[in-house]
Amino acid sequence: MGDLSILVLHGPNLNLLGQREPGIYGSLSLAEINRLLTVEAQKLQVVVTSAQSNHEGVLVDAIHQALGQHQGILINAGAYTHTSVALRDAIAAVNLPTVEVHLSNIYRREDFRHHSYIAPVSIGQISGFGAQSYLLGLQALVHFLRKKDEV
Ligand code: DQA
Repeated sequence: MGDLSILVLHGPNLNLLGQREPGIYGSLSLAEINRLLTVEAQKLQVVVTSAQSNHEGVLVDAIHQALGQHQGILINAGAYTHTSVALRDAIAAVNLPTVEVHLSNIYRREDFRHHSYIAPVSIGQISGFGAQSYLLGLQALVHFLRKKDEV
């Protein structure tokens, strides 16, 4: 089923989606978002594998293990977006095309959310469209990977 395999990584507190500040993050649970991603992946004819962790090192390990297994990474690093040099270095180290997504528009929120350590090692960022951010991010990543093969 498709030639491309994408790793979807969800960072800290995203396991609580649906109950966590629904006015900011929406009412869908993480399982529902993963289900939408699977449906979108089928349309795009790619395979997605989703994982969530509240632990920075577990996310670093998952990025390392993506090498040779997946062709791209879609990541919502949650609060680690704004703090983690380790996640940024892991993405730079594996050098897999990465798209950063956020449910909320991080630039409309507190100042501490305006800086992303992930952005400089990503192809691009999608922020502010709720669960749609993930679907748009997946589309953009797959489009990028297919274009890359053309040339
Ligand atoms: C988030 C935005 C982050 O600032 C926050 O810490 C999160 C979720 C988002 O998806 O909007 O946990 O990444």
